[in-house]
Amino acid sequence: GVRLNRICCIGAGYVGGPTMATIALKCPQLEVVIVDMNEDRIKRWNSDELPIYEPGLTEVVKACRGKNLFFSTDVKKGIEEADIIFASVNTPTKTQGVGKGRAADLRFIESVGRTIAQYANRSKIVIEKSTVPIKTAEAIARVLSANEAAAGGSKNFWILSNPEFLAEGTAMKDLDEPDRVLIGGQDQDAIQVLADVYANWVPRDRILTTNLWSSELSKLVANAMLAQRVSSINSISRLCERTGADVKEVARAIGTDSRIGPKFLNASVGFGGSCFQKDILNLVYICQQFGLEECAAYWQQVVDMNDYQKTAFTSKIIQSLFNTVTKKKIAVLGFAFKKDTGDVRETPALMVCDMLMKDGAIVHVYDPKVVIEDALTEFKYHDLEVNTNQLIFSKSPQEACDGAHAIVVLTEWDEFKTYDYKSFYDKMMKPAFLFDGRNMLDHAALVDIGFEVHALGKGQIKSSGGQSQIPDFVTRAGSGLLSGGYSP
Ligand code: NAD
Ligand code: UDX
Repeated sequence: GVRLNRICCIGAGYVGGPTMATIALKCPQLEVVIVDMNEDRIKRWNSDELPIYEPGLTEVVKACRGKNLFFSTDVKKGIEEADIIFASVNTPTKTQGVGKGRAADLRFIESVGRTIAQYANRSKIVIEKSTVPIKTAEAIARVLSANEAAAGGSKNFWILSNPEFLAEGTAMKDLDEPDRVLIGGQDQDAIQVLADVYANWVPRDRILTTNLWSSELSKLVANAMLAQRVSSINSISRLCERTGADVKEVARAIGTDSRIGPKFLNASVGFGGSCFQKDILNLVYICQQFGLEECAAYWQQVVDMNDYQKTAFTSKIIQSLFNTVTKKKIAVLGFAFKKDTGDVRETPALMVCDMLMKDGAIVHVYDPKVVIEDALTEFKYHDLEVNTNQLIFSKSPQEACDGAHAIVVLTEWDEFKTYDYKSFYDKMMKPAFLFDGRNMLDHAALVDIGFEVHALGKGQIKSSGGQSQIPDFVTRAGSGLLSGGYSP
């Protein structure tokens, strides 16, 4: 067998960085090298300002960096020296050619295969950490073995699938205590080498092994199922707004059913992030490739519902503001796709801000972590033009809200709950509107201040003082009615 002492990871991104830092922390006997062709990223991994924000990450990196954790642009050396190589490169949706807008763009993962073929000096275990379509491992294996055969060599390459389930914002905790680790492969010895690495901190019964294809597919399905819950509850939020039901109450009522479970039932302005949409579209594409049109249409609806949620939320803002936001200042609280991350990939804020700006609004964003450069990059990636006179990033929430017609909450950052909204209200245009795209604020208290509040999946919001709707005669009759003893 292989005596493992050195690991290399190709791709120093949101997954490669935190995952390898955790392995380095938990396995002091191993040396972990993360390589990336992006020089700027590697420079930042080696500095005090890490390229990604993730609670708890800096501490782990500082504890291990220079000891058994290294960041480098030297891909060749990384491959030569390692016994096992993780591929944790990006696998975005294709933007052109066959399968455009749905299929995964596998050029980075293929380039990793070819690079390993070029530089590998002995047999290696190659691990797919990236999220990939089913049967990608087979393609990597073919690239490696065909190149090896052409060079007349006899090196062996064992391919494993080891998808990552961490969520951003909680990555370090998710890695520290995973619900499960999934390893797919054909060679039991190779599987054991990787299982032994995780067994340094993950209980053995949480290390699941499957065949390669189950593992690859499970990752896509896990994300599709999670996103499906969000789209399902979001569709109900629209119905609640029409009927007087409250989506939070509905979520609580159904979530206590142990078969449904309480998590991932928060109605929102829409899900974002680099994974959900991309992975579902990929699943849709795979279904289509196998002629399963109905299955494809079923999952496509999860994405369509999400797009509808974003536009419906924004339309409601524009309608409420008397059908025009032209030249109106709108304060947007939160631009990241969820709290505790600076990541803006596929954030719902993109579509909301774009729609508001297309209608002439001046959008003032405050986000604790997102910088305008990253937001502009994301707009550009989606071919959305931005006039920088219309998109302003404020240094404080006060600055964003000063003189605004409306506050729009798009990310559930904890600090948004702690603000003195009365002081914001005093400096806003009247009527002052507040749209809570995360259902996270105390709506009755905001109504008391004077805001016109629109929350997701909730009808008109009453002030906290106006709570008791019980007519006088009932109160006069004592607690009789409420205890069931009252008869007229
Ligand atoms: P990322 O874009 O943050 O990082 C990928 C890195 O790979 C980049 O820095 C890029 O420069 C580098 N790279 C690409 N090709 C390379 C090559 N040939 N040689 C060297 N470096 C190369 O991406 P990410 O968010 O870390 O995602 C990586 C994979 O993990 C994706 O397949 C994604 O679907 C999956 N995933 C992501 C998350 C998440 O929360 N972001 C969670 C689970 C799984
Ligand atoms: C997701 C998966 O959870 C993770 O397992 C996988 O490895 C990568 O993709 P991530 O995208 O980082 O993780 O965050 P997640 O917490 O899943 O949230 C995704 C989006 O759904 C966010 O925009 C979030 O705000 C939204 N969401 C989540 C809701 O709108 N409502 C919910 O109840 C839960």
